[in-house]
Amino acid sequence: MSLSKTEKIWHNGKFIRWDDANIHVLSHVVNYGSGVFEGIRCYHTEQGPAIFRLREHMQRLLNSAHIYRMDPKFSVDELSKAALELVQANKVDACYVRPLIFRGYGDVGVDPTTCPIEVYLACWEWGKYLGEEAIRSGIDVCVSSWNRPAPNTLPQMAKAVANYMNSQLIKMEAKSNGYAEGIALDVNGYVSEGSGENIFVLMIDSLITPPLANSSLPGITRNSIVTICHDLGIPVAEQTIQREALYIADEVFFTGTAAEITPVRSVDHIKVGAGTRGPVTKRIQDDFFAITSGKKPDRHGWLSPVGAPANAPALR
Ligand SMILES: Cc1ncc(COP(=O)(O)O)c(C=O)c1O
Repeated sequence: MSLSKTEKIWHNGKFIRWDDANIHVLSHVVNYGSGVFEGIRCYHTEQGPAIFRLREHMQRLLNSAHIYRMDPKFSVDELSKAALELVQANKVDACYVRPLIFRGYGDVGVDPTTCPIEVYLACWEWGKYLGEEAIRSGIDVCVSSWNRPAPNTLPQMAKAVANYMNSQLIKMEAKSNGYAEGIALDVNGYVSEGSGENIFVLMIDSLITPPLANSSLPGITRNSIVTICHDLGIPVAEQTIQREALYIADEVFFTGTAAEITPVRSVDHIKVGAGTRGPVTKRIQDDFFAITSGKKPDRHGWLSPVGAPANAPALR
């Protein structure tokens, strides 16, 4: 993810210059990983930029903060409004929006409660995470030797900064072995998710995705794909998935804000289906990208147009 600087960053209710968004090295988050965050896409549409599922992302951000007893003192509405203003102020079109809440500078003990809560929103222009070609032809992935954290260790319903130390192990191992991405199993050996993506598996005309209790993040793209499947009449269910199901599946794909819908064409060098993007994956992609580009009506109110109030009706 290359970073192309924009002009402004939102900090605790005010805009500051990009270069002034600095923190002290002894901030609690730097030492103990005490932060939660979001990744949100703002899509280009003919009517102007529009942020995808903005309120759902801000709600998940506040849920993550709540799990870690952080009170940022901003509501979903206020954060959503700030994100729309940020994209507008930076005069960007398609971009990535990164909200962050963390424990700042104050104390260096493990107890974080005396440290201030800092809230930042940044955005920058950004293309496809795994590449355009990946969206069309799929990627080669492996099952990681790293598991997702067990339940009641690091909570996986929180999108916490610290969880991404585990994601980094998965990603670095996969890349150093020549794969684009790794799939992590949970503590019991069941399929969980990618380092930064949820996973769907097509078996005998039905799509399945692991339940959240298999240590997967409550992905907002995952939720959107389930909704699209209902619309398209594609059977979809949450179901525990064994590792070997990945090898005999007809289709496998990742979902996520960054990965969008990325087909998986092989797992551990074993071809998935025909070894290329499958027809069900393509049907879902076509609908998803038609909605996010504004080419199809936004039938679920998923897009918040930049330049309109946060609670304005979605694009139709
Ligand atoms: C570990 C992990 N799982 C799943 C996802 C997909 O979630 P979403 O669709 O909300 O981006 C992400 C990305 O945020 C992630 O980091």
